[in-house]
Amino acid sequence: MYSIAIDGPSGAGKSTVADILAEELGFVHVDTGAMYRTIGLYLLRNQIDPSDETAVSECLKKLTLDVEYIDKKQHVYLNGEDVTPFIRTNEVSTYASKSSALKPVRDFLLDAQRNVAKKYNVIMDGRDIGTVILPNADVKFFMSASTESRAARRHKELLEKGESITYEEVLSSMLERDKNDSTRKIAPAIPAEDSVPLDNSGAIEETIEYARKVIKGKITL
Ligand code: DC
Repeated sequence: MYSIAIDGPSGAGKSTVADILAEELGFVHVDTGAMYRTIGLYLLRNQIDPSDETAVSECLKKLTLDVEYIDKKQHVYLNGEDVTPFIRTNEVSTYASKSSALKPVRDFLLDAQRNVAKKYNVIMDGRDIGTVILPNADVKFFMSASTESRAARRHKELLEKGESITYEEVLSSMLERDKNDSTRKIAPAIPAEDSVPLDNSGAIEETIEYARKVIKGKITL
């Protein structure tokens, strides 16, 4: 099986790039952030402090999380319910970011992520795919984009989903999550040593074109 890792901060455009490349290559796009978001949603719904390791560990015992691919699109199930439409709010982002710093949460999701990569050719996006989850991935990218373009992208997505939020609110909560994600002790969002930097501040077509070239040089299909 082939695997391509795309790590980087939120709003860099990982999901869009991974979707397009997965479609072209016939790979499955695994969005690992959606799995952390599913746990975040459970904690939010049950009013559990996402930084309380003991309380969160207890919750994980009551929770089943399944991931399925229907027409190549990822769906996440929380205790049997398809929660895919409910995990993209700003509140869930905060819960996901805070709880993702806890070891029990990362351990809970580690096998689920590795198992998909055993079953399918994958493009997996997240924060620690190239460093922890798939250290032997065939290609590793670390995607970035200017803070302003990331916040603008996230703001547009949230408005399209009907959330009422200002650009400034998105920017400040994004900066806080960036800090949580990149400075946490376990699996921080940092580039793998052998990753290829992918800057997505400009036109997305250029980013894709460059990624395509890198992939062609490393994978023969
Ligand atoms: O990519 P995203 O914004 O959907 O991710 C939501 C949160 O989950 C993010 O703040 C950090 C966390 N996350 C993580 O810690 N490791 C991953 N592989 C993916 C996401």
